[in-house]
Amino acid sequence: MKSVRLHSLSGGFDAVHVEDVPVPEPGPGEVRVKMRMSPINPSDHNYIRGAYLKALERLIWNHGKDEIAFDPERTRLHPTPPYALGGEGVGVVDAAGPGMLARRLMGKRVALISGPPRGTWQEYAVVEAKRAIPVPDTWTDAEASMALINPLSAVLMLRDVLGVRRGTFLLQDAAGSALAKSVIAMSQRLGFETINVVRDGRHTAALRALGARHVIETDSMDLRDEVVRITRGRGVDYAMDCIGGPLAAELVSCLGLGGHLVLYGTLGAPSFDLHSRDLMMPVARVSGFFLGNHVARKSPLAMLRALRELRAVASRSLSDVEVREIYTLDEVHRALEASVAPGARGKVLLRLDA
Ligand SMILES: NC(=O)c1ccc[n+]([C@@H]2O[C@H](COP(=O)([O-])OP(=O)(O)OC[C@H]3O[C@@H](n4cnc5c(N)ncnc54)[C@H](OP(=O)(O)O)[C@@H]3O)[C@@H](O)[C@H]2O)c1
Repeated sequence: MKSVRLHSLSGGFDAVHVEDVPVPEPGPGEVRVKMRMSPINPSDHNYIRGAYLKALERLIWNHGKDEIAFDPERTRLHPTPPYALGGEGVGVVDAAGPGMLARRLMGKRVALISGPPRGTWQEYAVVEAKRAIPVPDTWTDAEASMALINPLSAVLMLRDVLGVRRGTFLLQDAAGSALAKSVIAMSQRLGFETINVVRDGRHTAALRALGARHVIETDSMDLRDEVVRITRGRGVDYAMDCIGGPLAAELVSCLGLGGHLVLYGTLGAPSFDLHSRDLMMPVARVSGFFLGNHVARKSPLAMLRALRELRAVASRSLSDVEVREIYTLDEVHRALEASVAPGARGKVLLRLDA
C-alpha cells in the first residue's frame, strides 16, 4: 500500500516520501481502517519540522535523556524517522484484532485519531479501537476527516481547562481557523460571547454568518480599544492563543479580573514577553493545553462525556470549515505547499482512496 512517510527532521518537504509498504495487520484491541480522507493540520507540520521534538527536549522529564518522551512515565516516546505522517482522518474499518470493541467497529465508517509513527496518510491505518469513532451518515468524508483533533480540543479546553461560564466574554486569536469555529459553535451551546481576532477582513463575513458578533481585524483596528468597547472596560474572562509573540502578550493584557488564558499553539512565534504584573494585578492565570497529554490524564468515563459533546459541536461546526483543495496521496508535496500558502483560506485535504 502507499504510505506518506517522513525520512528526516530536516524541516523541508523533500524529507516526505510516498512509499510502498506492507498493509498492516491489527493486533489485539486494534482495528484496520481503509482510509478515505485526511486533513493537513498545523500539528502535521510540527511532526515534519520536528517542532514537537524541540519542545519536548526542554521539558524536565526529558532532561539529559537520549529518548524524548511526551510523558514523564515515558510510555509515549517521540518517534524517530522514518515514520508515517497524518494525525486524523476518516475511513471504513476492514479488519479487527481480538477484542469486543474492535469487532463491533467492523464495516463502520469511522473518524480516527492516530499520528506518527502510525499515521493516517496511507491507504490503510491501524489504530487502537478506542481511537476510532463511528460517524453519522450525514457527515461528508471531508467533514468526518476533520472531526476529532480540532473539535475535541475546543471541547476540552472550554470544559476542562477554562470551565467557561454563561454570560462571559472569550477572546480568541486565529479566529478563522477550524478550531476557532468549534469554539464559536460551543459558545452558542454554553451561552458565552466570543470576541474573534483575525489579521484582516478575509474571514469576517464567514464568522458573522456563524453567529460571531464581534470580529477584530488587527490590520485596521486596535485590539485593546475594541476589547474595552465590547466589554465596557472590564476586559475578558477568558482568552485562547495559538499565535504567540506580541499577539499573545496583547491577549494577556486584555484579561479582566480573575481572567484565564489558555495557550495551545505557536503559529506565529514559540514564545512571548509576559509582564508578570499583567497576571498578578488582575489575579489572572495562564494554562497550557496539549491534546495527547490532556486525553491521557482523563478517565474513560469523562472521555465518553467529552466525545458525546464533540458529536454535537462537530455537527454544528464542521460544515463551516472551508475546504480549499483536495489532493491525492501521490500529490502530497503539492498539498503540503498549498497548506502553508500565505493568504489562502480553508483546509487542504488528502484523498487516500483515489
Ligand atoms: N495544543 C493542542 O493540542 C492543539 C490541538 C488542536 C489544534 N491546535 C492548534 O490550534 C491552532 C489552529 O489549528 P487549526 O487546524 O484550526 O488551524 P487552521 O484551520 O489551519 O487555521 C490556522 C489559522 O491560523 C491563522 N494564522 C496562521 N499563522 C498566523 C499568524 N502568524 N498570525 C495570525 N494568524 C495566523 C490563519 O490565519 P489566516 O487565515 O489569516 O492565514 C488561519 O486562519 C494551531 O496552532 C494548532 O496547532 C493545538
